[in-house]
Amino acid sequence: MEGIYLDHAATTYLAPEVLQAMLPYFTELYGNAESVHFQGKKAKIAIDSAREEIAKHLNCKSSEIIFTSGGTESNNLAIFGTAYANKGRGRHLVTSKIEHSSVTNCFKELEKKGFEVTWLEVDNEGFISLGDLKKALRKDTMLVSIMYANNEIGTILPVKEIGEICKEQNIPFHTDACQAAGALSLDTQDLNLTLLTLNASKIYGPKGIGALYIKTGHEIKPTQFGGSHERNIRAGTHNVPGIVGLAKALQLAQENREKENARLIALRNKLITGLTTMIPECTLNGPKNLRLPNNVNISIRAVHSADSVLQLDELGIYASPGSACKAGSSQPSHVLEAINLPRNLRHTAIRLTLGHKTTEEDIDYVLQNVPPLIEKMRKCA
Ligand SMILES: Cc1ncc(COP(=O)(O)O)c(C=O)c1O
Repeated sequence: MEGIYLDHAATTYLAPEVLQAMLPYFTELYGNAESVHFQGKKAKIAIDSAREEIAKHLNCKSSEIIFTSGGTESNNLAIFGTAYANKGRGRHLVTSKIEHSSVTNCFKELEKKGFEVTWLEVDNEGFISLGDLKKALRKDTMLVSIMYANNEIGTILPVKEIGEICKEQNIPFHTDACQAAGALSLDTQDLNLTLLTLNASKIYGPKGIGALYIKTGHEIKPTQFGGSHERNIRAGTHNVPGIVGLAKALQLAQENREKENARLIALRNKLITGLTTMIPECTLNGPKNLRLPNNVNISIRAVHSADSVLQLDELGIYASPGSACKAGSSQPSHVLEAINLPRNLRHTAIRLTLGHKTTEEDIDYVLQNVPPLIEKMRKCA
């Protein structure tokens, strides 16, 4: 049984067009892009054209795109690369309390190495205050890193406004756009970005491939060493099928996002309204508006997240107890803590994230089956 997959924020399936674009680079076109013969040239042409395609959607130069192994590596490269290359500027950095662990843990590591980090608070919907940001900025601030959209509660952060503030003070600004890339504009000029993290696995592309936009003139110290690939910033043989897949996935996501957003918002709102009205003491986490079109995160009083997710699995509904990276961990979500959700509700949160294959019938199935399931679970508890 295929089931109803509602975990698109963890990862997506491959779009058929993406698979088709990638296939030749697994089979007849297998060259190393550094080789000078026919096979190498074909690989290089594919990489160059993928870079052009991505640059088009980011409204930047193709030379400003660096390919990596995914969101985690891009975030590490943006943060450590900036911190280590710009020591002369200072030792102060700014981030928020709701970033993905691949950002949060970089800053914790920098703190251990003597850098000073300001961790901006968020309100109970996950928004930072622009006033707090302005107050946090100093002459020696070398980087601000604030995510574009949150992976757990779907909050869309005011990236354009943050970018304007940073630009006024000439402070580099990085955003992690892994969750945003399928739904929002990635225009790096309009958003005033210095660095942007992207991955393919959330936008119906392959896993294990990502990119980092680095504005011309911004200095980055490499974090891994080897050959001269990617302008000496990221060594290692190119993942040609992955790069081709990322470009195709981004093209489809950006070209179709307005139509797909409208469809998803209608389904998401139906699901939120249905669950929060049909299940007593069931509340939405995160904002009603300025929320990713595909994100639903609810707390169900007195029903532990892990139990809900297991029982939903039995019904063929695949959800997540929080972010996928948290699954299997007994640690409460740092995001739910940051939005000041009462302690008893943090362990009862589940995330349902919709995607291309989600239909109205799927939502109806969830609404027919989940409320009675929760009632039964509460009775048995
Ligand atoms: C917001 C965000 N940033 C970064 C990542 C890490 O990306 P990757 O799995 O490609 O390393 C994820 C993945 O869950 C994410 O949701």
